[in-house]
Amino acid sequence: MSPVTLAVVGAGNRGSAHGRWALAQPDRARVVAVAEPRAVRRDRFASSHDIPAGASFASWQELAAKGRLADAVMICTQDAAHAEPAVAFAELGYHVLLEKPMATNEADCRRIVEAVERAGVTFAVCHVLRYTPYTALVKRVLDEGRIGEVMSVQHLEPVGYAHHAHSYVRGAWRRQGAAAFMLLAKSCHDLDWLRYVVGRPIRRVASFGGLSHFRPENRPDGAADRCLDCAVEPACPYSAVRFYSRFLDRGVDWEGDHWPLDAVMDRYTEADLRAALRDGPYGRCVYASDNNVVDHQVVAMEFDGGPTGTFVMTAFSAGGHRRTRLFGTRGELEGDGETVRVHDFLTGTAEVLSAGTPGNATAGGGHGGGDWGLMDAFVRAVATGDRSHVLTGPRESLEAHLAVFAAERARREGVVATVAMDVASPQEDTAAGR
Ligand SMILES: NC(=O)c1ccc[n+]([C@@H]2O[C@H](COP(=O)([O-])OP(=O)(O)OC[C@H]3O[C@@H](n4cnc5c(N)ncnc54)[C@H](O)[C@@H]3O)[C@@H](O)[C@H]2O)c1
Repeated sequence: MSPVTLAVVGAGNRGSAHGRWALAQPDRARVVAVAEPRAVRRDRFASSHDIPAGASFASWQELAAKGRLADAVMICTQDAAHAEPAVAFAELGYHVLLEKPMATNEADCRRIVEAVERAGVTFAVCHVLRYTPYTALVKRVLDEGRIGEVMSVQHLEPVGYAHHAHSYVRGAWRRQGAAAFMLLAKSCHDLDWLRYVVGRPIRRVASFGGLSHFRPENRPDGAADRCLDCAVEPACPYSAVRFYSRFLDRGVDWEGDHWPLDAVMDRYTEADLRAALRDGPYGRCVYASDNNVVDHQVVAMEFDGGPTGTFVMTAFSAGGHRRTRLFGTRGELEGDGETVRVHDFLTGTAEVLSAGTPGNATAGGGHGGGDWGLMDAFVRAVATGDRSHVLTGPRESLEAHLAVFAAERARREGVVATVAMDVASPQEDTAAGR
């Protein structure tokens, strides 16, 4: 079978990560075209993949204007720039791998689903957590009935103090409007994952949370607008100098992931880092940025048929994998992203199972094996025409996104929100050819 051909739209962190999977699997996939406005990124990417000048474009619009150049496209632009290319490339007949979130509003998410269904193409949203060995283990334990019927769930996304400061106070996801709101940007993964493991749609949600800490009034005495000028920087856990220097000191492996440095600068030298911290958004005091997304949020949810759950997202954590407790009628499952502890009510015993999770929870760590699991599934689905390899069909992805929009509405308006119920069940999803 000849390799699946891929076009990459947005050769930033995610586009490069997906591209690296193809480089490691040359017999299964080949990237043959790229669209990226930033010349440094475009040229670096084109050179790693041997993409000729004629297949290297400065925007997705220029790539789309050429008609269909590849079997599939991987859309890795920023959140607010997903819907237009997703619809355009689906209409051209490309199979579509779309970074999450699908789009920043409900209407655009629905427009994407309509477009991919109309075109009859394979479509996958990068809900990478579904594809980790750890999730496969959790699913297996649940499917074997080892804890009976799931009745309650507790799920935590410990974003991590430094990751939060990087992405959601200083970085690209700091402002709703420019990007998605926090729950959509970071935690659409979590609501999707909960829907997947519990095996039921989320029907009703309530939510609380806000931007409590990263605000001007919490700025310590003596703090400057930039970490480089700050007298109290050594005592600040959110120091940009300390955070980025730690990564720079480790050295940059050109074949590897460059998160978080790739967002900060194009060349990884001490001088470039200082220049970026001096002039760019990543050198700003976390109490003097223009961020407006929440730094902690909780969602209480009711699943179809009655099970209930809570989800906590917080900046104020050491980071690491998500942690979950699933409470069933015959037992309890406790998972930390690497191991699963199963307590059996009948025998009174507990068993610890290990998933052999590769990599850590961050983008740099490949999301615990999810990044490569996702690419493997998508390319397999495109190569064989068997869409069941993709674990998130368009309608199930839409359903999870609708739960996120409802939860955010609940938080903002102080109401209990009902998730729209007009989305087909997963069975219908499969039958409709996801
Ligand atoms: N699945 C996950 O776990 C995961 C993790 C991190 C980020 N993401 C999502 O992936 C997406 C990309 O994130 P990222 O960190 O790679 O961002 P990034 O900023 O590193 O990359 C986006 C790239 O798109 C390029 N771009 C802008 N306009 C373009 C156009 N018209 N045509 C082509 N390219 C264009 C930018 O120049 C940039 O290089 C975001 O939506 C983000 O939320 C998903």
